[in-house]
Amino acid sequence: MKTPTRKMTVPAFREAAERGQKLTMLTAYDYLWAGIMDEAGVDSILVGDSLAMVVQGKSTTLPVTLDQMIYHGELVARAVQRALVIVDMPFMSYQVSPQQAVENAGRIMKETGADAIKLEGGAIQSETIRGIGRAEIPVMAHIGMRPQAVRQLGGMGKIQRDEQRLLDDARAAEDAGAFSIVLELVPEDIAGRITEALSIPTIGIGAGARCSGQVLVGPDMLGLNPGFKPRFLKQFGDLRNNALSAVRGYIQEVQNGQFPDEQHSHH
Ligand code: KIV
Repeated sequence: MKTPTRKMTVPAFREAAERGQKLTMLTAYDYLWAGIMDEAGVDSILVGDSLAMVVQGKSTTLPVTLDQMIYHGELVARAVQRALVIVDMPFMSYQVSPQQAVENAGRIMKETGADAIKLEGGAIQSETIRGIGRAEIPVMAHIGMRPQAVRQLGGMGKIQRDEQRLLDDARAAEDAGAFSIVLELVPEDIAGRITEALSIPTIGIGAGARCSGQVLVGPDMLGLNPGFKPRFLKQFGDLRNNALSAVRGYIQEVQNGQFPDEQHSHH
């Protein structure tokens, strides 16, 4: 597999989807992992507000703050040379008013060096998407299962099956100027029909193969989060077990005097 070399921009992201290229996106939250994913050639890196759960150990995404998203966004953007970097707007950083949203999206862009922001919602956020777009900030929308609406939806893992509502949300986000839309936990057929109805790329998570591209949470697909096994998740690595065995090997070798040996000592 050839690693792409040109910087992925928002127009290039849309053009790649128009050419029929399946887009790849993963989440990352720090310099080290963002650098690995970028070097591997992923098209886009999302600094997701899933940070609250996979990095901070919280039970929902609601507690993560704008300052924390900016801190991690900057670490990621600094590592990345090619991928399109997108930073999530956290809960209550855009819901109050379009003005609040524009100001906070502006902070993310200025302070992280990211290429775009993502926010949750379709029709209910159309005025906000339009406002952020007027500030020339590219917006990715996120519909279907919206983790920030967990209290309203009654849980995190619920498949969203109201096709008309999903289509209305997708069209509203596109009309408001979103350059792409994440579809989370949507049945494959519905996600396929939404993708066909839009002119902007859809990025699915638990939404089947007919989206324009896919996103997974980095630590989940790397096998670092073994307790989390939803149907849609494929683990492409077993890093937790690799790390456990490395740390156990170190402890054993220090305790039995094998490490440091001659090769790892200065004279
Ligand atoms: O926060 C996140 O990681 C996300 C992805 C699941 C799309 O929004």
